[in-house]
Amino acid sequence: MTAIISYDTIILGAGAAGLMCALTAGQRGRRVLLVDHAEAIGKKILISGGGRCNFTNLHTAADRFLSANPHFAKSALGRYSAQDFLALVERHGIAWHEKTLGQLFCDGSAKQIVALLQDECDRGAVEIALGQPIRDVEHADGRYRVTVGDRTATAPALVIATGGPSIPQMGATGFAYDLARKFGLKVVEPRPALVPLTLGGDETLFRSLSGVAAEVVAKAGKAKFREAALFTHKGLSGPAILQVSSYWRHGEPVGIDFLPDLAPGWLVAVKHARPRARLDNTLGNHLPARLADTLADRIGIDGELGTHTDKAVAAAAAQLADWRFTPNGTEGFAKAEVTAGGISTAELSSQTMEARKVPGLYAIGEAVDVTGWLGGYNFQWAWASGWAAGMAI
Ligand code: FDA
Repeated sequence: MTAIISYDTIILGAGAAGLMCALTAGQRGRRVLLVDHAEAIGKKILISGGGRCNFTNLHTAADRFLSANPHFAKSALGRYSAQDFLALVERHGIAWHEKTLGQLFCDGSAKQIVALLQDECDRGAVEIALGQPIRDVEHADGRYRVTVGDRTATAPALVIATGGPSIPQMGATGFAYDLARKFGLKVVEPRPALVPLTLGGDETLFRSLSGVAAEVVAKAGKAKFREAALFTHKGLSGPAILQVSSYWRHGEPVGIDFLPDLAPGWLVAVKHARPRARLDNTLGNHLPARLADTLADRIGIDGELGTHTDKAVAAAAAQLADWRFTPNGTEGFAKAEVTAGGISTAELSSQTMEARKVPGLYAIGEAVDVTGWLGGYNFQWAWASGWAAGMAI
């Protein structure tokens, strides 16, 4: 019979949140077992930010996160800030730069962030068990008992940090939700977020623009983002589309302003100044030629602008400022950078991430119903929620 080893806490999932929780608790003197079925820690960190890891965002604030409770993330984000993580990065001598919109990246490689986390876990004497499936999780007499491979560990605290099901080909699973439900916690319906949208029907023709990009304002519901949109062979992508995808719901349109710098009356003014100008050529002054031609074709203002009424020309400008696409879906969890929804925040303390009705059970990171915008916000949530639980255990 194998020995049952006792810890102060067992953390399931050695991603960003689990690693931060482990190093925080370990450095506070807690005996920590960190478990992952992958052969290596922090695999998503390694592929993040195009291999340079967009590890935080200087503009982190709760309004940049989606959650059924928009206030939930405030406490953890306020107590462990982007500056706190940046200070850790600097203590490790990792060179970084701000790319755009407060997004901080490593100058070198995402491997440096994983090495930082490993080093800090070592300082906290965190024991890491990799490459073995979690076979069983039980709770009895105030202790959690976890069987991993052929070993069994117990602890009075258990942290769910196994993330969401986005990018299953990298080992991502819905394990966090299964476990949460097993302990009676509610789960907000998970859905792919920060994900390309697909076009069908008579919008299929836009797929022929695959590879064309333009800076736009994209809108879904009340959310709008000014960034690049990219046409793909399946539909729409690029940062502006990924951002609105988190807010988009099936059946709703996505609005695109293709000319966000132009005032509403601009096309009528062009018509009056240059009545012989054509719409496709005029749009070509502002947009890539293939996109300009396709939009002009769809609008149906043929020939010289001067041959059309002001009303028709103004309507064309209005259409260009709020072009309605009706995506028929998303590219799904296989292509989603994150999962929206997850373990309901109503079940958790915003201070500690502990389940209100299951003492000693914690949930952190992407497994929880808190989803950040594109741009380093999701890692900041992983660090902050991991830190909050690590301080409480
Ligand atoms: P994460 O998914 O990182 O970790 C969960 C861990 O649990 C994994 O190690 C997994 O192997 C393990 N696990 C899962 N199921 C298990 C099971 N059944 N048994 C045992 N272990 C299990 N964010 C950002 O802020 N900046 C960025 O630059 C990027 N870039 C980026 C690129 C790409 C391609 C993706 C897919 C995602 C990003 N993200 C991002 C999002 C970011 O990666 C994500 O939000 C965090 O990794 C979430 O951290 P967690 O620790 O919660 O989960």
